[in-house]
Amino acid sequence: MKKVSFAAFGGPDVLHLMDADEPHAGPGRIRVRVRAAGVNPVDWRIREGQVLGAHPVELPSGVGLDAAGVVDEVGEGVEGVAVGDHVFGEGSDTYAEFAVLSAWARMPEGLTFEEAAGYPSVVETALRVLREVGVRPGQTLLVNGASGGVGSAVLQIARDRGITVIGTAGSANQDYLRGLGALATTYGDGWVERVRLLGRVDAALDLAGSGVLGELVELTGDPRKVVTIADLDAPEFGVRFSGVAGSVPDALAEAAALISRGRLHIPVEKAYSLAAAAAAHIDSRAGHTRGRRVVIV
Ligand SMILES: NC(=O)c1ccc[n+]([C@@H]2O[C@H](COP(=O)([O-])OP(=O)(O)OC[C@H]3O[C@@H](n4cnc5c(N)ncnc54)[C@H](OP(=O)(O)O)[C@@H]3O)[C@@H](O)[C@H]2O)c1
Repeated sequence: MKKVSFAAFGGPDVLHLMDADEPHAGPGRIRVRVRAAGVNPVDWRIREGQVLGAHPVELPSGVGLDAAGVVDEVGEGVEGVAVGDHVFGEGSDTYAEFAVLSAWARMPEGLTFEEAAGYPSVVETALRVLREVGVRPGQTLLVNGASGGVGSAVLQIARDRGITVIGTAGSANQDYLRGLGALATTYGDGWVERVRLLGRVDAALDLAGSGVLGELVELTGDPRKVVTIADLDAPEFGVRFSGVAGSVPDALAEAAALISRGRLHIPVEKAYSLAAAAAAHIDSRAGHTRGRRVVIV
């Protein structure tokens, strides 16, 4: 089978489309014929050797955690899923024709494989940070970096729960944030004042790691009301860094219900072929993805 792989940590040029042995579903796992793989920032962080503590890698390594596809092997002890089912979920080496998933759910009716591949890591992260920041219906949540994959999910889940959201994004994404039900403003010079004009902030999420934790603490008045997924200086500000994944199957089930009710949609910014995985990484790393990028297999 064809698989994207790298033999040394480095830039996008270390990625190669190779012939590889097919993986097989071990106990508690399923194998899918991958139709699309989600492109997450963690994919290029792993390729660069940045996050080896959380994601240990043996070289040569495949790439990709998220996928949507058709089940074609069901491992020992797995129940509730059958060969031929359309699923989306998380596993390893998903930029490939076949991949093994460790967590999955059935794809909701009407979702394409291309769209479905963009959800797994994003919705797990969004649901986790909303839980950890402890924001309640009727309160106002500030989201720094609201137009990316995680931000798009946070905004829509928060709206569904009756939470008001103020989101920051680049000027090209202001209407996008408003379309997801948020009050919107641009990041950059003067942003704290612009947020204050939009309203009081009860809790805040930093999804961009753009060095604004001090300001988020100032706006909420309490470091315990701020959570970041991208700023490693969090402890300096008394802020929680969220990095330990919650239950992916539970997150996918909740996301599937929201998708089916028309309450959650993560747009695909661009789809790439397997052979163009390096371009997908370059574009993701540029840091201005609206929704999710995906690799089509
Ligand atoms: N700790 C965890 O568990 C965890 C989980 C998932 C992701 N992450 C990390 O969290 C970050 C976000 O993930 P993602 O998948 O949502 O990324 P993404 O889809 O690539 O989105 C990045 C977003 O950041 C915004 N942005 C860029 N520069 C900004 C700035 N100076 N101020 C505010 N926003 C800015 C962009 O908005 P504009 O395009 O509008 O400029 C873009 O929408 C990544 O660093 C990722 O590695 C961590």
